[in-house]
Amino acid sequence: MKATIATLPGDGIGPEVMVETLRVLSAIGSKYGHDFTTTESLIGGIAIDETGNPLPDETIKTCEEADAILLAAVGGPKWSDPTSDVRPEQGLLKIRQHFGLFANLRPVKTYPALASHVPLRADLIEGVDILFVRELTGGIYFGQRKEMGDSDEAYDTMLYSRPEVERLAHVAFRAAQGRRNKVTSVDKANVLASMRLWRKTVVQVAEDYEDVELEHLLVDACTMHLLTRPSSFDVIMAGNMFGDILSDEASVLAGSLGMLPSASLGAGRFGMYEPVHGSAPDIAGQGKANPIGMLLSLAMLLRYSLELEEEARAIETAIDDVLADGLRTPDIASKGEAVCSTTEFVDAVLAKLA
Ligand code: NAI
Ligand code: MG
Repeated sequence: MKATIATLPGDGIGPEVMVETLRVLSAIGSKYGHDFTTTESLIGGIAIDETGNPLPDETIKTCEEADAILLAAVGGPKWSDPTSDVRPEQGLLKIRQHFGLFANLRPVKTYPALASHVPLRADLIEGVDILFVRELTGGIYFGQRKEMGDSDEAYDTMLYSRPEVERLAHVAFRAAQGRRNKVTSVDKANVLASMRLWRKTVVQVAEDYEDVELEHLLVDACTMHLLTRPSSFDVIMAGNMFGDILSDEASVLAGSLGMLPSASLGAGRFGMYEPVHGSAPDIAGQGKANPIGMLLSLAMLLRYSLELEEEARAIETAIDDVLADGLRTPDIASKGEAVCSTTEFVDAVLAKLA
């Protein structure tokens, strides 16, 4: 296959994990006979420094010409002046809006080798493999809101339309078909009107997917079930706010922030893929960054935008194997365990792929 991937290294550890991830992309291309082209452009703080704009038009144009976007991380203390009108994070919001990326997919998985890093009993977290499908461009984060001057009242509005819920549900059910055929839809239908529409719509969409089991959970109950029976979940779909909160809660199950990937998808196969972590300025330039979140983001890009399931799995399996062999970047090393650098970890992944 021929494909073009727009790469946005950004700031802090971004360029470090990007360089390493592109080595893996190139290895996958050679191994499976694909012709991958990458086009690098500016976003975030470095884009502000060089052009005055966190998302230059040139970057948008390059991304429009690509099949998918791979983004590392943006931001850092240099651009964190709260009084400044121009901030790196604006680049992220603008690019999500520009490409209509309404579905945010966040897989959370536990690794037996890292069980000691998770503050839950080992038998509880065994085999946890959850895919969050969070609505990203609607709901209460985008509804009308108002702080009424000096009065003691303010409001936010949670509004969902049937098409917004439908398109997200299709993403969730299709994803479940490639996994363990179960969708848990999270809502608060016992109280909120928007969430009754949510549930009704999900039930209707489910009729198209008879092979997928559908479970409904109220969001408050879901917070508890995530800690008491995390391995019973497959795909969890939720609105913008509930998905935000639940996926942060679930990230604890993985062991380190540096392990988590994400995909933001729109209507077609185009998408943007990025690790959940930020630019980690505290460890930037030291070879300490955990590359797993970024590598797994590449695996998601191959799976969803390029439909290369086998290649995606090859990367995921190689990471599992390297962890099982005991390689640890500092963030996932237990006391007394030897640590490796970002590059050494990726060398080991490449050796597994060879
Ligand atoms: P952060 O995710 O950059 O770092 C939080 C902690 O996790 C730090 O101790 C860091 O060293 C560690 N960490 C993060 N990624 C790691 C990795 N791959 N390997 C090992 N350790 C890792 O979040 P923080 O410190 O709140 O934000 C730093 C900057 O990143 C800020 O400017 C923030 O706005 C930006 N940010 C950008 C995001 C993005 O580009 N999507 C997301 C979150 C924050
Ligand atoms: Mg959050």
